[in-house]
Amino acid sequence: MTHTRRWYFNRRPAKDIEADTLLLREEALPPAGAGQLLLRTIYLSMDATNRLWLGDWDLYMEPVRPGEAMKGFALCEVIESHNAAFPAGSLVAGLVPWSDYSLSDGSGLSLVPRIAGLKLAEAFGVLAIAGPTALVGLMEIGRPKAGDTVVVTAAAGAVGMLVGQIARIHGCRTIGIAGGPDKCRMLTESFGYDHAIDYKRDDVVARLRELAPDGVDVHFENVGGDMLDAGLTVMKNFGAVVICGLISTYNSAAGDRIPGPYMFRNLIMRRLRVEGFVILDYLDRYPQYQAQLAGWMLEGRLNYRLDITEGLENAVDALKMLYTGANNGKVLVRIGPES
Ligand SMILES: NC(=O)c1ccc[n+]([C@@H]2O[C@H](COP(=O)([O-])OP(=O)(O)OC[C@H]3O[C@@H](n4cnc5c(N)ncnc54)[C@H](OP(=O)(O)O)[C@@H]3O)[C@@H](O)[C@H]2O)c1
Repeated sequence: MTHTRRWYFNRRPAKDIEADTLLLREEALPPAGAGQLLLRTIYLSMDATNRLWLGDWDLYMEPVRPGEAMKGFALCEVIESHNAAFPAGSLVAGLVPWSDYSLSDGSGLSLVPRIAGLKLAEAFGVLAIAGPTALVGLMEIGRPKAGDTVVVTAAAGAVGMLVGQIARIHGCRTIGIAGGPDKCRMLTESFGYDHAIDYKRDDVVARLRELAPDGVDVHFENVGGDMLDAGLTVMKNFGAVVICGLISTYNSAAGDRIPGPYMFRNLIMRRLRVEGFVILDYLDRYPQYQAQLAGWMLEGRLNYRLDITEGLENAVDALKMLYTGANNGKVLVRIGPES
């Protein structure tokens, strides 16, 4: 392999990702050296946080700087190995450049076993990021009890569609909030939510009060802004608010003043526990989470939907879908064939 295509971070966007934010270039790839691996990218995971890495906020990890290759979480095949930990032919997952091929010294990569009964895209799409995030956020941060009412925002998305089902597996009542009638139908028909609220049409606070007259025990936040305020308004005393993501704020710059939450006072009035988390802090327990999630998938207890875009050249358009709500399920980009 002597050449590859690779996306580079060109210019920081003022708000939404722009045409010149990332540029695709063709470049020479040097031969793999001692200790190195030559990787062929199969699937690239599109994650809301990819946009955060292009901003100037203080983050939970190193961002991407203008001039550097864009990076993302990917499933790759090792096609040449000078590192005994990752033999040629094995599948690995980790943070790699957005490119067809790349070189790696193996750091940050983990071997990915094939799971009988699951397609590679399903296993990667659910088990790599969205599934562990949903499981950790709900069960270790939210800690609901059977019979509790759980509310989830961006409920039809990659993380949200799983949170509702995991809550139901644990005996909770679930209310999902999403944008538009089609996504709301998916919530109740495909992802097992007891109730759906369309935030683009409904009065969210009024609907939450109607559906949970005694209040909400666990609120799982993926969006922030008005959604978080609606959640804080209807919490029960001693409820838990899980801050998984604030996607409605990720397109802002460090100097911008992000409004709210206006109902912050309910942390006292309702004695709430509000806790954020980053899934990277839980990597040592991944095998345990993935075994649990794969078990539910194989038993048909966890429904999921993938939204697969073809081709590295379309990666930026795929990422932008997360910000317009155009995605239907976990967004992956297929860079190359599975084998
Ligand atoms: N803490 C962690 O470790 C961790 C790990 C992974 C993901 N996350 C977070 O989880 C959240 C969901 O990520 P995901 O990968 O599963 O994406 P996703 O839910 O599949 O896609 C994002 C969805 O967010 C909704 N959305 C986007 N902009 C919005 C806005 N301004 N107002 C209201 N809704 C908006 C859209 O749904 P609608 O069509 O319904 O509007 C869109 O489909 C993100 O906030 C992400 O940062 C956190």
